[in-house]
Amino acid sequence: MKYLVVYFSNSGRTRCVAEAIAHELSADVDEILERKPRFPLLDEEGKPAGGFAMPRAALAGFLGAGSAIKQCSVEPSDYDVVLIGTPVWVGSVVPAVRSYIKQHRKPLKTAAFFCTAGEPEKQRAFTQMGKLARCEPVATLAVHSDDVKANEYGGAVHSFVERVRGK
Ligand SMILES: Cc1cc2nc3c(=O)[nH]c(=O)nc-3n(C[C@H](O)[C@H](O)[C@H](O)COP(=O)(O)O)c2cc1C
Repeated sequence: MKYLVVYFSNSGRTRCVAEAIAHELSADVDEILERKPRFPLLDEEGKPAGGFAMPRAALAGFLGAGSAIKQCSVEPSDYDVVLIGTPVWVGSVVPAVRSYIKQHRKPLKTAAFFCTAGEPEKQRAFTQMGKLARCEPVATLAVHSDDVKANEYGGAVHSFVERVRGK
């Protein structure tokens, strides 16, 4: 089986989880990049950056907007399973991942979703991602951003990977 991990990350938490998943699955990795990159919206401690960037990002998440993303270098149709990762903004999948799924939903054969969030149990991002991709994910994983910082997500990643493998 060929696996592809695709993710967006603004302040690095989702990237950590994506890399751990890819390592366990020996998957290829593709990062979704916005054409107009945002500065990190959260600092190391998870505190919001000042200025308008945070409310702008929150509004985009709230409105269900997409964003202009760079052409991805990896073709998802070459893979049996595509694992898509997102941070949660205002309870939602972020604009860049929304745009990625819309652009690539046809070639997605089988998908799994993961996210990092401050309150992962309350997120509805997976429902939105399923609707955008028009498919049911074979597995989902939501990781608390504090657990990423504390490096306490290995077990959760392992059981997610086992579910993706169908074990
Ligand atoms: C604009 C913005 C809105 C957010 N809204 C939520 C939210 O509604 N619920 C939640 O649990 N976490 C929320 N968060 C926290 C992020 O989902 C969390 O810190 C995530 O791990 C960040 O991922 P990243 O480091 O890969 O960018 C928000 C963060 C930002 C920047």
